Amino acid sequence: PQEINVKLELSKMSTLEKVLKRGELRVGFESGYVPFEMTNKKGNFIGFDIDMAKEMAKAMGVKFVPVNTAWDGIIPALLSDKFDIIMSGMTVTQERNLKIGFADPYIVVGQTILLNPKLEGTITSYKDLNDPKYTVTSKLGTTGEQAVKRYIPKCNYKSFENETEAVLEVINGKADAYVYDLPNCVYFKAEYGDKVIFLDKPFTFEPLAWAINKGDPDFMNWLNNFLRQVKNDGRYERMYNKWILH
Ligand code: ARG
Repeated sequence: PQEINVKLELSKMSTLEKVLKRGELRVGFESGYVPFEMTNKKGNFIGFDIDMAKEMAKAMGVKFVPVNTAWDGIIPALLSDKFDIIMSGMTVTQERNLKIGFADPYIVVGQTILLNPKLEGTITSYKDLNDPKYTVTSKLGTTGEQAVKRYIPKCNYKSFENETEAVLEVINGKADAYVYDLPNCVYFKAEYGDKVIFLDKPFTFEPLAWAINKGDPDFMNWLNNFLRQVKNDGRYERMYNKWILH
């Protein structure tokens, strides 16, 4: 009974209190989604989300603990307390929002397209790709994949476990187009130059937000106030200018 009471007390506690008690903010993300989270040559995690997470931990006065987690298991990992928050460029979708809570969006993006150069002029919008003769790539379990299935249902869709592989498939000519979040395509375009054609007009509306377990208004309140503060005191702008190419 005593153990059960302790468990009950813990489960009633806000994640915020647990983080403060532990002295650590455990942040879940999946590295590889440039420029939000990636691994540098030294093996350190860097990017827009990582800098924001460090800023957040600093504001709480706790240590930042990165938890790199495969995308397809990231929501179950949050639900089973492997970390305190997802900061991983996650789009707020109504389906995900049934399981987890989202803070206010920290950036709004949409799906864009990187094409193999041989299709320059032939394909000018996602609608032109809606034909079984075109192979389109994106990443497993993402809104990129959902957008292809919903808006380009007739194409030959090929799913990848990481973004770089999916874009390389287009560069090496095995696929025709890569569909993904705007800032990621901007980054790949800058990296690969003339090897890809960039259709940069987003065809979906996607707010990205930090996700936490449901039923935790204290943590949610802290996050939204923190976000408003960084967005207006220059910190957001500094991080944005450092990482998001424009
Ligand atoms: N915004 C997209 C989604 O929510 C892609 C995010 C991918 N993030 C990552 N760290 N791999 O589905």
